[in-house]
Amino acid sequence: MNIVVSPVTATDIEPLAALARVVWQRTYPEIISQAQIDFMLEQRYNPRRVRQELDMPGVWWEQARVDGELVGFASCLLTAAGREMKLDKLYVDPNRQRMGIGERLLREVRAHARREACDTLILAVNKRNAPAIAAYRKHGFTVREAVRVDIGEGFVMDDFIMAQSLLPAVQ
Ligand SMILES: CC(C)(COP(=O)(O)OP(=O)(O)OC[C@H]1O[C@@H](n2cnc3c(N)ncnc32)[C@H](O)[C@@H]1OP(=O)(O)O)[C@@H](O)C(=O)NCCC(=O)NCCS
Repeated sequence: MNIVVSPVTATDIEPLAALARVVWQRTYPEIISQAQIDFMLEQRYNPRRVRQELDMPGVWWEQARVDGELVGFASCLLTAAGREMKLDKLYVDPNRQRMGIGERLLREVRAHARREACDTLILAVNKRNAPAIAAYRKHGFTVREAVRVDIGEGFVMDDFIMAQSLLPAVQ
């Protein structure tokens, strides 16, 4: 399978938001309420917001395509902590999961992090999202801490922060 990764552009926003909804509806109904899913999708994927992020320094969006079809995407951003890149989004079409697409997107995110001289890659994942936690462990992340973040309108993100070092291993 030939996975082609490239930066997201303005014309990709609509299909990307549609794919996000498909993946979220497959992933989150057993984890958070439908109201929270709708709230977070609107917050994170409304076209104006995504377009702003595409133009923002310190934020990168990448898409993965197979035979021209959009099959996944990732975004990452530099954190205020400095030398730390946050994997902010990583989503793969439910019909294409466990085929290495997430890993391929992660490789691209690590490349951005290294170019920005980051020494750590972090992410937040819902504590009950066991398949994603398994994927992140497989790809070299460990749990750093547990957090509960109020995201407004009475919704809370109940997450693990996972991290991986980008420094070469000391022998
Ligand atoms: C998590 C996710 C991004 C991983 O991408 P992917 O392309 O499926 O993952 P890869 O092919 O690179 O790696 C596969 C590994 O991930 C884990 N994994 C992925 N999906 C899994 C599932 N449904 N059940 C259990 N483990 C799973 C396994 O460790 C798997 O390795 P294995 O097949 O050898 O057991 C993708 O499965 C996804 O989009 N999930 C739903 C959305 C989500 O939860 N995103 C993360 C939000 S923080």
